[in-house]
Amino acid sequence: MPDPHVVAFYDRHPISAERILQRLRAAGWSGERLTAAQLWPHDQDHYGGLAANDTLAARAGIGPESRVLDLCSGLCGPARHNVVTRGCAVVALELNAGRAAGARRLNALVGLDDRIAVVQGDATAPPFAEATFDVVWSQEAFLHIADTPALLRAARRVLKPGGRLAFTDWVAGAGLTADDRGLMAQGIAAQAIYPPDVYEALLREAGFADVRREDLSAAWRPILRARLEMYRELRTEARRLGDGDPHADYVRFYERFVDLVVAGALGGARFLAIA
Ligand SMILES: C[S@@+](CC[C@H](N)C(=O)[O-])C[C@H]1O[C@@H](n2cnc3c(N)ncnc32)[C@H](O)[C@@H]1O
Repeated sequence: MPDPHVVAFYDRHPISAERILQRLRAAGWSGERLTAAQLWPHDQDHYGGLAANDTLAARAGIGPESRVLDLCSGLCGPARHNVVTRGCAVVALELNAGRAAGARRLNALVGLDDRIAVVQGDATAPPFAEATFDVVWSQEAFLHIADTPALLRAARRVLKPGGRLAFTDWVAGAGLTADDRGLMAQGIAAQAIYPPDVYEALLREAGFADVRREDLSAAWRPILRARLEMYRELRTEARRLGDGDPHADYVRFYERFVDLVVAGALGGARFLAIA
């Protein structure tokens, strides 16, 4: 059962389809068809942008024949990038109705709505037959889902034999306290953050025989600092546009979040698990 706090968090998230289009309008766009590449500076809601997509796609072995399920697909930034650069077909499963609608709108604006099917639903119960996909993909999203065993079993179920679950996510480092977890739950609706070896064990319990992991903690630290600057700018922009100060709490949370990352209490990891 998804936590309503997760839905509410993404309902008010600073990155939205409307905000992306506002920025493009401010840069002179007048409503004509766009290319996916014009959205890329704005539509990637994970760490490392397009380079992170390229690396994850390479690990997952995504090619033109691949059927990819993007779990927790957000505004479909990575889905559009995979379709354009890898030629694959993507099904994008997203919980939040507003984000699913925003993703469809952006897909249509760049003429990719026939290559990406956006489905609104919960990643712990994907509405697809077993052995449907070559790759299940996700970025910085599984932390929002409390029932990790159900989520990983669901990913395993929809993968073909030999299919790959490729994802990146937050992991717990030494010294992450109960208070810090409370801060993460409050600040970014984080429900589940595991030490990397516990995450690996959960993947094996879900039926993945071969599990590989890469530590992304050092790579994510400067990205987090840059994100904090971006959220500070979004806050300033919202105030300048007369929208009040909707991002004040988020910026305050993010400052404490970055401290935890710099201290090593939180880190990032890339997983590849083979069905
Ligand atoms: C950090 S965003 C990542 C979006 C996308 N992967 C990207 O990189 O642009 C996480 C997304 O996960 C979605 N999400 C959270 N819990 C979910 C669930 N149980 N099922 C499906 N989507 C979920 C959120 O609504 C949000 O859009």
